[in-house]
Amino acid sequence: MTFDQTKWVWRNGTIIPWEDATTHVSSHALHYGSGVFEGMRCYETLDGPAVFRLEEHLDRFYQSATVHGMVIPYQREELSEAICELIERNGFKNCYIRPLCYYGSSSLGLHPAKCPIELVILVWPWAAYLGEEGLESGVRVTVSPWMKFHSEMMPTTAKACGQYINSILAVREAVSRGFDEALLLDIDGNVAEGSGENLFLVKRGELFTNDERHSILLGITRDAVIQIARDQGYRVNIGPISLDDLLDADEAFFTGTAAEVTPIREVDEVRINEGKRGPITELIQNVFFSATAGRDERYRDWLTFVTSQTVKLVC
Ligand SMILES: Cc1ncc(COP(=O)(O)O)c(C=O)c1O
Repeated sequence: MTFDQTKWVWRNGTIIPWEDATTHVSSHALHYGSGVFEGMRCYETLDGPAVFRLEEHLDRFYQSATVHGMVIPYQREELSEAICELIERNGFKNCYIRPLCYYGSSSLGLHPAKCPIELVILVWPWAAYLGEEGLESGVRVTVSPWMKFHSEMMPTTAKACGQYINSILAVREAVSRGFDEALLLDIDGNVAEGSGENLFLVKRGELFTNDERHSILLGITRDAVIQIARDQGYRVNIGPISLDDLLDADEAFFTGTAAEVTPIREVDEVRINEGKRGPITELIQNVFFSATAGRDERYRDWLTFVTSQTVKLVC
């Protein structure tokens, strides 16, 4: 990943040069992780760059803020426009989009009441999160010794900055042992999710995934994949997933904005089936990437086109 190509950042209503987008060391969020954020992707299509599921990401952004008692000081139309304008200004066709709303500098008491609410949007080109090779051949994951926090400890369905320390512990530990990604269990010992991805299994031609009862973030890619799989005629079962279910699966894959649809080929040195991308995973990947590229009419509504000349005029 590199920020080299990003020239402009949106901050509190204005587009400013990258090098001016700094924050003070006394910012509340820097000390305590008091902020909420989103992660979206913009994809190149024949009709120009388009943000994938912008509306759903903005819904979650506002919901995350509400859960944490923050009021985002901009209307969603302003944020949609800001995102599209920023992508155009930076001249990107494919990029990752990171809106972040956080408590700035005023006091370092834990209660952030006095701190100003800051809102920034960053965009940058971000290649396949778990590698191009991972997208094709699958990744090797390990069950983390760190558990996913329970929703009674922190809301798992909100995307708040500080909670990612749990994911960071898990992924660092996994990578230190030579794995690509960590898989976290919930407090009941069922599988929760990856450090930044949801999990799907395929068994006897049916799909399986879990939900918020298992301490996961309800991924927007997960939702897209559930719809794609059903449209392809597959049954999708939603419920707990045990480690045995995973090890015994015919196929397994991660979903996420960053990771997109990434096959899992091994869990702690145990191969999933033949240890390569399975046929249903590949089919779902293909439909997913057709949808993000605007080539599948069924999912055209999932795209918000960035330039004003295009079909769906939101920005
Ligand atoms: C912990 C966690 N789970 C799952 C996901 C996948 O969510 P989405 O598909 O909305 O990106 C993410 C990424 O945002 C995440 O951070």
